[in-house]
Amino acid sequence: MKVWNEMLEHAKTWSIEAGDKQLERLEGPMHMESKSSAIDLVTEMDVWTEKFLTEKIKKHYPDHVMRTEEGGMHEGNSDFEWIIDPIDGTVNYAHGLPHFSISIGIRFKGTTVAGMVYAPKLQEMYEAIKGGGAYLNEKAITVSETKALDRAVVGTGFPYDKGTDPDNNLTHFNNILPKIGGIRRLGGAALDLSQVACGRMDGYWEIKLNSWDIEAGLLILEEAGGVAEVVKEEKGLFVISGSPEIFPQLKALIER
Ligand code: IPD
Ligand code: CA
Ligand code: CA
Repeated sequence: MKVWNEMLEHAKTWSIEAGDKQLERLEGPMHMESKSSAIDLVTEMDVWTEKFLTEKIKKHYPDHVMRTEEGGMHEGNSDFEWIIDPIDGTVNYAHGLPHFSISIGIRFKGTTVAGMVYAPKLQEMYEAIKGGGAYLNEKAITVSETKALDRAVVGTGFPYDKGTDPDNNLTHFNNILPKIGGIRRLGGAALDLSQVACGRMDGYWEIKLNSWDIEAGLLILEEAGGVAEVVKEEKGLFVISGSPEIFPQLKALIER
């Protein structure tokens, strides 16, 4: 058994524990603050979850590197790196909407080798190990077989600086919307990619993302037979993804 199988099992166990706490805290008033804009929120549970996970990792794997949304880089002397978004979909979480998740990707020597996306409210655990397929609650998943773009349901999102930077995805949205079957803005990149992986959506694109938003979701998507392109741009990561049929058709509509 590879080391990262054990790491993934730990990540799942710790995420389920943290997810229970996230659900518990939804019952009471929540402390939150704004970051880059009024709607870019960090709740006390983003901070709590990240601390909980990084402390567990440090205890079990003291040398490992960690890249986390709230804390940044935790340097270490190892070829292993954990990429963590403690709550992806914080706006949903803060509003009581169920589409939020804990996302953990594991890299070895720069390659993503394992990842999990856990949605506590939906009780869904998506996971993948490189070369081993993708799973939702332990059942194998694959991307959809939709062939025609005008039947495809495609997800996207809009950056937090949408009100101040005209590069806010609206041009792509306007080009794509008339050509596709339906559009969804679910509000969590990690789960969005997972929805494409399990065939509920046929494609997904977004701009200005960070590695913690997509690290685990991308592996899950690719292991489910999906295709993705990630371009590192000045303002963040630009991602287009989909089933092998829908991906090229979606890509043809996007000019960056
Ligand atoms: C955000 C979500 C959202 C996407 C944003 C991300 P956060 O992550 O994934 O769907 O549109 O670009 O930053 O802030 O909830 O962790
Ligand atoms: Ca995120
Ligand atoms: Ca987050």
